[in-house]
Amino acid sequence: MTDHVRVTENAGVLTLTLARPEKKNALTNAMYETIVRELNRGDKDSKVRAILIQAEGDMFTAGNDIGDFAAVASGKTPERSIGASPFLLALAHLSKPLIAAVQGNAVGVGTTMLLHCDMVFIAENAQLTTPFVNLALVPEAASSWLMPARIGYARAFAMFALGQPIDGKTAAQIGIATAAVPAAEVQKRALEAARALTTRPAGALQAMKKLMRDVETIKAVMQREGEEFQARLKSPEAMEAFRAFAERRPPDFSKVA
Ligand code: COA
Repeated sequence: MTDHVRVTENAGVLTLTLARPEKKNALTNAMYETIVRELNRGDKDSKVRAILIQAEGDMFTAGNDIGDFAAVASGKTPERSIGASPFLLALAHLSKPLIAAVQGNAVGVGTTMLLHCDMVFIAENAQLTTPFVNLALVPEAASSWLMPARIGYARAFAMFALGQPIDGKTAAQIGIATAAVPAAEVQKRALEAARALTTRPAGALQAMKKLMRDVETIKAVMQREGEEFQARLKSPEAMEAFRAFAERRPPDFSKVA
């Protein structure tokens, strides 16, 4: 259990709140463990009828903790397959509705996890970015397939290759989010939606969600991405990107092969 994810349950809604605002809610291994345990538990618990993910502070999440990436890259912590990461698999397998309240910017997996949420309420001024290539990595969470399918190849390529942001209003227009609302209303609107879903027949809701998602393809893409991600993580390019982040300077890829 980590203090950086708060877990509450009320009237059929299981709420997970990312609570590491001083580090922009960057996701550590300990945070993933709590989230995975609660997603899996909530999915099995008949009292839970909807799951809400939200965050404290001015950002939704800055994505994976770059220190944790660097520790794997340098061999300090054991390698784990990204494609088969318990968090990604839990997202792929979740049968209950997952709602996200994105009150501020989301980076990396903070954005790609939204492709696995059934409803997303986002602040109009929030920005979604996926700077995987800037970090010498590749997209994950099946986003290399889900993102172009959702928003078109051209926009997805610009997001992935250039780290080009998508703002909240645009995210709602192009189908990443359900609705863009003022930042102060995001969590209220998401909770209202979650509560509405708890009143629907759970069996039909879950059957519908299953029909709408191709879980086997999602898992196969995650596996493929994971193999590439793992290889990239240990590349000299990635080491330079992680060092640059720690040293608060732009990376210089001109000297690495
Ligand atoms: N991993 C680890 N720590 C992170 C982090 C991450 N992904 N994102 C932010 N932090 C930490 C910063 O190191 C800083 O810590 P410090 O106060 O001990 O120095 C703290 O959170 C605040 O971040 P800061 O960079 O000062 O805030 P900002 O408002 O100037 O910028 C971001 C916010 C998100 C734009 C910037 O932190 C950033 O680019 N983070 C990396 C995002 C990323 O590439 N994620 C991985 C995607 S695959």
